[in-house]
Amino acid sequence: MIRQFQWRDYDAVTGVWESAGREVVPRAELEAKLARDPELFLVAETGRRIAGVVMGAYDGRRGWILRLAVHPDYRRQGLASRLVAELEARFVRLGCPRVNLLVMPDNEAGLRFWQELGYLPCPDVLCTKPMGTPVSRD
Ligand SMILES: CC(C)(COP(=O)(O)OP(=O)(O)OC[C@H]1O[C@@H](n2cnc3c(N)ncnc32)[C@H](O)[C@@H]1OP(=O)(O)O)[C@@H](O)C(=O)NCCC(=O)NCCS
Repeated sequence: MIRQFQWRDYDAVTGVWESAGREVVPRAELEAKLARDPELFLVAETGRRIAGVVMGAYDGRRGWILRLAVHPDYRRQGLASRLVAELEARFVRLGCPRVNLLVMPDNEAGLRFWQELGYLPCPDVLCTKPMGTPVSRD
């Protein structure tokens, strides 16, 4: 079953992220995210176990898909596809016209998965900066 995240899922969700080698979103960051669009953070439950997770975000113009992961014991059963399909349906209901995501270039399985679902690479380069750090002029 694909459903919205609830706080009681947090430990299981961090377990899935860790099992998939993905960075865990700390509680404080997740609280801030859930204050904006809680309906875009989804889990896949098989029996009583959380086996997959995906986090969506919508900025009013573009949707973003983040931290998709399925526990290694539950892969190639369509769980990630179902998580993304439900998230896409929710983006459409919000009126979101385009969805972006980032994949590490050496993540061949991830790239194949996303291409299978119609997500194509584009040449943009991700630039990032932590807020609150001074600009170096050296
Ligand atoms: C990528 C990942 C989320 C896929 O989860 P999953 O539940 O196994 O995916 P699905 O079963 O829905 O796969 C759908 C299709 O994607 C493709 N695919 C999925 N995993 C693949 C792999 N390891 N190698 C090649 N193709 C793959 C296949 O076409 C698959 O269909 P098929 O099983 O009928 O051949 C999972 O492997 C994972 O958590 N990986 C580690 C974290 C990660 O890379 N996240 C995504 C990058 S942002």
